[in-house]
Amino acid sequence: MAKEKIIRTLAKDTVRKIGEKVKLQGWADTIRDHGKITFIDLRDRSAIVQCVGSKLPKITKESVVEIIGKVVNRPEKLVNKDLSTGTVEIKIDSLKVLSPAKEIPLPLDGDGLEIEESVRLKYRYLDLRRGRMNKNLRLRSKTTQFIRNWLTARDFVEIETPILTKTTPEGARDFIVPSRLQPGKFYALPQSPQQYKQLLMVAGFERYFQIARCFRDEDPRADRAYGEFTQLDLEMSFVKQEEILFLTEKLFTELVKEIFPHKKITKSPWPRISHKDAMKKYGVDKPDLRKNKKDKDELAFAWIVDFPLFVKQTKDDFFHGAGAKYAPSHHMFTAPHPDDIGLLDKAPMKVRGLQHDMVLNGHEVGGGSIRIHQPKIQNKIFELIGFTEKQKKQFEHMLTAFSYGVPPHGGIAPGIDRLLMVILGEPSLREVMAFPMTAGGSTAVMDAPSNPAKEQLKELGIKISKK
Ligand code: AMO
Repeated sequence: MAKEKIIRTLAKDTVRKIGEKVKLQGWADTIRDHGKITFIDLRDRSAIVQCVGSKLPKITKESVVEIIGKVVNRPEKLVNKDLSTGTVEIKIDSLKVLSPAKEIPLPLDGDGLEIEESVRLKYRYLDLRRGRMNKNLRLRSKTTQFIRNWLTARDFVEIETPILTKTTPEGARDFIVPSRLQPGKFYALPQSPQQYKQLLMVAGFERYFQIARCFRDEDPRADRAYGEFTQLDLEMSFVKQEEILFLTEKLFTELVKEIFPHKKITKSPWPRISHKDAMKKYGVDKPDLRKNKKDKDELAFAWIVDFPLFVKQTKDDFFHGAGAKYAPSHHMFTAPHPDDIGLLDKAPMKVRGLQHDMVLNGHEVGGGSIRIHQPKIQNKIFELIGFTEKQKKQFEHMLTAFSYGVPPHGGIAPGIDRLLMVILGEPSLREVMAFPMTAGGSTAVMDAPSNPAKEQLKELGIKISKK
């Protein structure tokens, strides 16, 4: 009974409990057996603390254990400056194995970047025990928490939008999901909440945000996920482009200061460069403006503006009107520059769009625009990108909604994964995601996609044809 009265102490708090008896629970991070005495470094969510005892039961690395013992000061020369609990150790009275661990299939010390990725993803729940991954996910949580508090304090409303929905054209292929209730029909997973956030402006919320999951079937790259990723999606009514840039810049400047205080922003206010000047001067629309590219703590943010509204359509533009000349540079809801409206008929490629890209160290970390709120102009864009009547019908709900009083509006969507990857100097998005997909498109640990049961397919009215 007496033993059960001791409540759990976290490793980090042991330094404040010298001379006290404590109960610790966690993982056996390292075990050093010196014959007579054994050292066990116990790791919990807060820290690692050294425990020492004799005649202990045999345990394996990474087993979950409960240790009861007394906290004592370490002699001066044995203080470990690398541990936050390095001034103390626990003299073990009793050790209980709560759950033994088999031999761990991958090393968990070190940064793990040299280990084959398929192994890391298969055992992701172990890979996440690694200090670096654990830290990355904690920083990610702090980042989204900061964003939520910051925007909520400024009158933004956080609203969830559907995942099972209709196609949202952001330039990639859709993932589609069959409907059982309406056999032969499919939902599409959203490439972004673009249309919903615009509809929320029609609904009068004026300031919306969401930490939104987006789904895109596109070829993966280090900074581009196949499958899913996360955006900070936001939208505002009655704003000019300037106000979107100002708000976003302030949010991320304050976020860096608070969550990543050792990082230095190269230039504030962030440079603003027209698309034309960026192409002329740097040859790319996402220039790396760091003063010293070797300095891992430098963050060179910039805005790229005045993009052309259209790019030449290519055969990869499978979504847009086949064979048409133009494709939207950002997306089809981006407003043309008011001074260039007259050019829509005469010289579409000369029309500038009210698009803004947020660039960091040579990566496009966010994109957005002022939107079209006049049905006539929206229709014009549909025509220029070669939409058939059937394709136009797919977006009729937008035009209908806009006929009931739509405020002028605009927004932006910084990619959370990409932004964190760049800020943390990680080589790939997967290093800041808990359960990313493999490059081949299989999910971590669970190895989806998998074959559905025959009955499932039958119920959905789906037959798989062999290629
Ligand atoms: P866009 O398509 O430019 O805009 O995306 C915005 C940001 O989302 C991130 N991103 C990705 N991150 C990881 N993997 C991907 N496959 C991926 N694709 C995009 C990037 C990018 O800058 N609805 C518009 C936004 C708006 O207009 O408000 C949109 O989604 O960081």
